[in-house]
Amino acid sequence: MKITEIQSAKASEARQNDSYISVKNLSKYFERKGESLHVLDNISFQVKKGETVCIVGASGCGKSTLLRAIAGLDANHDGIVTVDGADVTNPAKERGMVFQEHRLFPWLTVEQNIGYALNGVSKEERRRLVHEHVKLVGLRGFEKVYPRQLSGGMAQRAGIARALVNNPSVLLLDEPFGALDTFTKISMQKELKNIQKQSHTTMILVTHDIDEAVFLADRIFVLSARPGKIKRIVPVTLPEPRDRNSYEFLEIRKTIYDEFFAEGQDLEVPKGKRKKPRISVG
Ligand SMILES: Nc1ncnc2c1ncn2[C@@H]1O[C@H](COP(=O)(O)OP(=O)(O)O)[C@@H](O)[C@H]1O
Ligand SMILES: [Mg+2]
Repeated sequence: MKITEIQSAKASEARQNDSYISVKNLSKYFERKGESLHVLDNISFQVKKGETVCIVGASGCGKSTLLRAIAGLDANHDGIVTVDGADVTNPAKERGMVFQEHRLFPWLTVEQNIGYALNGVSKEERRRLVHEHVKLVGLRGFEKVYPRQLSGGMAQRAGIARALVNNPSVLLLDEPFGALDTFTKISMQKELKNIQKQSHTTMILVTHDIDEAVFLADRIFVLSARPGKIKRIVPVTLPEPRDRNSYEFLEIRKTIYDEFFAEGQDLEVPKGKRKKPRISVG
C-alpha cells in the first residue's frame, strides 16, 4: 500500500469513528538537571470535527505541553497524535495557534501581520482574505495600525485573524485571554463563539478560567496535577446563548470547581489563627 493510500484509509477510519483529532497514549517526559520530569501520563482522547474542547488544569500540569504536541511543535513524546487520520509530526498551517501574548510582528501593521503567512495566493486574493478576516474579528478601521497602538483585546483579535486566515481545520488556543481584564475577556469569549459559529473550525482551548470553559466548550477535559492525566470529561450541552448566571451553568461550574477544590480544603485556617470577624455598624 502506498503512503497516500494508507493516509486516506486512516482518514476514512477516523471519519467513521467520528474523530477528527485523535490523541493515543500520549506520554511526555522532560529532562531537567539530569532528572526526568514526567509531565503527561498516557493521555488518550478524540475530538470531533467542529467541536470545541476546553482543557482546564492547574498551572504546570502540562496543558501547554499537550497543546504543543497537537500543534506538532514538539513531536518528542510517546504516543500518537493524528488530525484527519494523518500523523502530526510538524507544525502546519492547517493547525492555527494562538498564544496568551499576541506574537504579532511589531514592525508590521495589522493587515500586514494578518496576511504575513499567506503564501501562494495572488495579490487580489490576499487583499480579499485579509479584509474578510479583519471584518470577522471586528478590526475594521484598524488595518493600518501597528501592534503597539492596539489594546490587549484588539491585539489578540489580530492574532486570531492571523491564525484563521490560512483557513486552518484546527485552531489551538493556549490561554488566549489570560492576560486580559474581565470585561475585555468576556467580550472576546463571545466573539470567539461567533467566529466558531461562522468558521466551524475545530477548537481546542487551554484555560485555567472555569467560567470561560463552561461558556465556550462542547466538552471540558479536566487535567490532574503533574503528571497530567485526564481526570474527567464534562460534556456541556447548555443552550445558546449561554447565560453565565443560569442555574445549569453554575451547576457545571461547581462540578469542575469541585474537581480541584474539595469542599473547605482550600479555606482551612489553622485553629490558633482564627479570628472572630469584627463587624461594626453605624
Ligand atoms: N522545555 C521544557 N523543559 C523542561 N521542562 C519543561 C519544559 N516545558 C515545560 N516544562 C515543565 O513541564 C511542566 C508542564 O509545563 P506546561 O505544559 O507549560 O504547563 P501548563 O501549561 O499546564 O502550565 C512544568 O513543570 C514545566 O516546568
Ligand atoms: Mg501553559
